[in-house]
Amino acid sequence: MKQGTFQILSNEPLTDSVYTMVLAEDTSAITAPGQFVNIQLAGKFLRRPISVCDWDSETLTIIYKVVGKGTAQMSSLVSGKTLDLLTGLGNGYDLSLSGDKPLLLGGGVGVPPLYALAKNLLAQGKTVSVILGFNKEAEVFYEDAFKALGCSVTVTTADGSCGTKGFVTDALPEDYTYFYTCGPEPMLKAVYRATNTSGQMSFEERMGCGFGACMGCSCKTLTGYKRICKDGPVMKKEEILWD
Ligand SMILES: Cc1cc2nc3c(=O)[nH]c(=O)nc-3n(C[C@H](O)[C@H](O)[C@H](O)COP(=O)(O)OP(=O)(O)OC[C@H]3O[C@@H](n4cnc5c(N)ncnc54)[C@H](O)[C@@H]3O)c2cc1C
Ligand code: FES
Repeated sequence: MKQGTFQILSNEPLTDSVYTMVLAEDTSAITAPGQFVNIQLAGKFLRRPISVCDWDSETLTIIYKVVGKGTAQMSSLVSGKTLDLLTGLGNGYDLSLSGDKPLLLGGGVGVPPLYALAKNLLAQGKTVSVILGFNKEAEVFYEDAFKALGCSVTVTTADGSCGTKGFVTDALPEDYTYFYTCGPEPMLKAVYRATNTSGQMSFEERMGCGFGACMGCSCKTLTGYKRICKDGPVMKKEEILWD
């Protein structure tokens, strides 16, 4: 884990309520797709955790949805301002288990961490299929970004206004070797039931410290108690114990 003062290079809307922010500083603590950063905001006691969407040695991209006061504050920040970030948090996805044809399933703001994952899997020569799930067409983002990487992309919307009508589980392909997913818990449960391979799921739970010190994110798994922030947020399908 590393603390740093990052400069905002850009902060632009992707949809009515979802923004993408690019920040610059030393990103050397980030080692795997699926990790997250924890953002300090003026006047807020708890930092806000947001997944790493993409990074290189000097910049970091995040995508966030405005759902409350903290994310609304973030959306008002202009380029040139700085933010205090903890980077290199969480375990991230394990790419070594993907097989040749991994399937990536993202729902809403569960989509961003899959972008760097797809990029890294493609760099390893894998054939990557992606299913992006949203409620309606106006909420769709990053379809073209995944296509530009070279992924096969399917969009699903609950109301059928774009792509396949239904949920990500209504568009499962016949042939995939492993899955990676991130999204709201009902979606993760549906993916858990509908998939016929092993896989990994990222849990975007509410949390406190974000680096393993407070036990505020502890949950029971089939392999003992785990802290979502440090032992996760990515869990293997075989270790998950639903409530
Ligand atoms: C590991 C991790 C990665 C995440 N990655 C992303 C990301 O890439 N993009 C993104 O938009 N969001 C992400 N989140 C969720 C994000 O942290 C919350 O939406 C944010 O902290 C809300 O802050 P707020 O002050 O705006 O909302 P608050 O005022 O704190 O809450 C507003 C509303 O949002 C709900 N809420 C708050 N936190 C969460 C949460 N973690 N999960 C579900 N509902 C929540 C509250 O219950 C409340 O209804 C992630 C969370 C975790 C733990
Ligand atoms: S949030 Fe503090 S231990 Fe996980």
